[in-house]
Amino acid sequence: MDNKDMPAIKILPSLLAADMGHLAREARRAEEAGGDALHIDIMDAHFVPNLSMGPDVVAMARRAVRLPLSVHLMMTNPERYLERFIAAGADILLIHIEIKADVADCLRRIRKLGARPGITLNPETHASALDDVLNEAEEVLCMSVHPGYGGQVFMPETLDKIAALRRAARQHGRPALDISVDGGINLDTAAAAAAAGANVFIAGTSLYGVGDMKAAIAAMRDRAAAAWSLSSNL
Ligand code: DX5
Ligand code: ZN
Repeated sequence: MDNKDMPAIKILPSLLAADMGHLAREARRAEEAGGDALHIDIMDAHFVPNLSMGPDVVAMARRAVRLPLSVHLMMTNPERYLERFIAAGADILLIHIEIKADVADCLRRIRKLGARPGITLNPETHASALDDVLNEAEEVLCMSVHPGYGGQVFMPETLDKIAALRRAARQHGRPALDISVDGGINLDTAAAAAAAGANVFIAGTSLYGVGDMKAAIAAMRDRAAAAWSLSSNL
């Protein structure tokens, strides 16, 4: 792989693991620690069993930081809320491939509304489910836990899917497509996911749960970059 084809390594703290009593301060902590964007999890108690945040929290984060906001819609009907989340300040909107709505149409609408469209797969969803929509997406998010809760253990069986997604991106002529991984990401699992072909690492517990988030982000960036350069991705 040529260097120009190598996607940038990005580390995204996930606000779900922040101190909910001080969300603006916690958003700024991610910015000051060198996060590349802030990940915000939206759960509707239907697509996933849990409830989390909504557009007002995205708007709060927009006021608090300049970082891009990566908004993960774990919702059965995201198509009803795209405008609201983008008006609130979302820069990246990630919807799930498992929803009933017309996913390609949602991705096109997100782009038209001025945000980056991303598509997410649950652990049990095969990479080939994206065949028809990959060209509409700027980012593919591979869940490495069952979505809905922070603090779960990374599922190593998702690594083969990350590799399949990187191969698919190359086959579509998009070798530098952002391939993200979310759930149970720490230094070791970030390295494993990077070796498989992921370049965006979303982490809650392992970044917000430590005293020195700056050191944790720097260490994760180093480990992921080292794993990329040792892997067959290059
Ligand atoms: C889980 C969310 C994740 C969550 C990850 O459903 O999508 O973004 O914050 O948390 P950790 O890093 O603790 O597994
Ligand atoms: Zn998420």
